[in-house]
Amino acid sequence: MKKMKIQFMLNEKSVSMDIDPETTLLALLREELFLTGTKEGCGSGECGACTVLMDGVAVNSCLVLAPQINGTEIITIEALETDGKLDQLQQSFIEHHAVQCGFCTPGMLMSAKALLLKNPRPTQEEIRIALSGNLCRCTGYQNIIAAVEGAVD
Ligand code: FES
Ligand code: FES
Repeated sequence: MKKMKIQFMLNEKSVSMDIDPETTLLALLREELFLTGTKEGCGSGECGACTVLMDGVAVNSCLVLAPQINGTEIITIEALETDGKLDQLQQSFIEHHAVQCGFCTPGMLMSAKALLLKNPRPTQEEIRIALSGNLCRCTGYQNIIAAVEGAVD
């Protein structure tokens, strides 16, 4: 397959690279850019473990083909912490014991981040809807919802 050049912003840095047009954003992040915080669960848009922000909107990176990110801004879980300081959401997940095995956590955090960027004071119902595409096999969800509520100013 002929390679294609793309340029995009990744965690506030400009990236330019030659890609196989059939590569997914998830594979690009994990296998070519070594940003392994974004997880692969189902690989088919069912679990939300691979959620990242694309122009501020939560997307399943396993369903986005690399050419689609040309000219966009991508934010991954690696950029949630700034200058050694955890994001308020990350801190709240710790305080509310919202993490068990942790596999779903990056995706949960990025979906919650997208919600708070768009709606800084969501209701519990809005939080539940925003996280409805993120599956967790461990926690029973209650602490995760409480953690997001706890991160609302
Ligand atoms: S790995 Fe992308 S939705 Fe499950
Ligand atoms: S903490 Fe284990 S899948 Fe959510």
